[in-house]
Amino acid sequence: GRPMVVAIDGPSGSGKSTISRRVAAELGLAYLDTGAMYRAATWWCRRREVDLTDPAAVAVAVRAMPLQMVTDPDAPRVVCDGVDITDEIRGADITAAVSVVATNLDVRAELARRQRAEIAAETHPGEGRSEGRGIIAEGRDITTVVAPDATVRLLLIADERARLARRARELHGADDDATLEATRDLVVRRDADDSTVSAFMTAADGVVTVDSSLLTLEETVAAVLDVVRAAV
Ligand code: C5P
Repeated sequence: GRPMVVAIDGPSGSGKSTISRRVAAELGLAYLDTGAMYRAATWWCRRREVDLTDPAAVAVAVRAMPLQMVTDPDAPRVVCDGVDITDEIRGADITAAVSVVATNLDVRAELARRQRAEIAAETHPGEGRSEGRGIIAEGRDITTVVAPDATVRLLLIADERARLARRARELHGADDDATLEATRDLVVRRDADDSTVSAFMTAADGVVTVDSSLLTLEETVAAVLDVVRAAV
């Protein structure tokens, strides 16, 4: 049949990147982290010394961004202007600035266009770079805007406590009360900023919700695999 497209949305700290990579590797699919593209756009604006408070200038810069996404789920990389920025864009200053860039509607249109091109490249044998192995794309608006016609559409959620604990462990290697509090502002504020663009906390029609609050990583991977396999 047609190569499958799996669309996964969710808030920060829902574990969607880790889960999506694992499921993609398991199913032999390509993996596209669309959040990394918004982070790359932020990095690129910084590098070009574009004023982030000037929406028109940001849009012009992002349209000219030379971005390459390496979609191997075992080693996904982000390369911008020949620089491998995979690790750098996870840093605190990009994370703090990314919502401003992501709420720019011209930036969203441009990146959605590039995301659809990545999906097409992985699903049209011969035309794209692959044999048409199919792809998992994850982000905030994949099920609704970028790929509403995906084979499988999933919303990965987790309650605030679980998401805070994951981010705290990721950032500080601990999830005691003080560390949770230090992380809260970061997570809750970014969710609030992001939710002005797309409603990623509630599932759109036809989107299956998986709640990972009480599940281990392995259990969540298994639950997502069940949903995907049931759909094909
Ligand atoms: O998933 P991650 O935390 O790396 O995403 C970084 C930022 O990119 C989010 O905070 C959000 O502002 C933006 N984003 C988006 N739409 C997507 C994916 C990410 O606006 N599809």
